[in-house]
Amino acid sequence: MDELLKEFGREQKDLIHILHKVQSEYGCIPAPAVPRIAEHLNITPNEVYGVLTFYKAFRLQPPGKYTVTVCQGTSCHVRGGAAVFAEVKKQLGIGAGETTADRMFSLETVNCFGCCAIGPTVVVNGRYHSQVRVADVGPLLARYRSRP
Ligand code: FES
Repeated sequence: MDELLKEFGREQKDLIHILHKVQSEYGCIPAPAVPRIAEHLNITPNEVYGVLTFYKAFRLQPPGKYTVTVCQGTSCHVRGGAAVFAEVKKQLGIGAGETTADRMFSLETVNCFGCCAIGPTVVVNGRYHSQVRVADVGPLLARYRSRP
């Protein structure tokens, strides 16, 4: 952390940049990093937590092996995206922003991937799955679950 923080200024406006850097290094914002960041910027740990919990981009826990991102945009929604999202939540037993206990899957949502014509769209670790139906969810998750 000391080496990492040397790259940044000590003004509050540097906080977002620091959080992005910490997350890219550690996969999340580890709890012990918060007081160090606060000390560096001369702000309170609560102020750091306030910012990092406000933005969806920051995680307090490392993501699972697979990050499942389900589009919740209007176009995907009218094509059945809400039901697909509900099925993913049901099968994984978690909600958006959470990770399964075995750390296999994390679940996230997005408002549009920019490929509305092929929705409902589900992206797993950057791989796009288009026109996903509720019946596709189980086999899709099983394929990833069975990968070595
Ligand atoms: S609304 Fe889902 S990709 Fe655009």
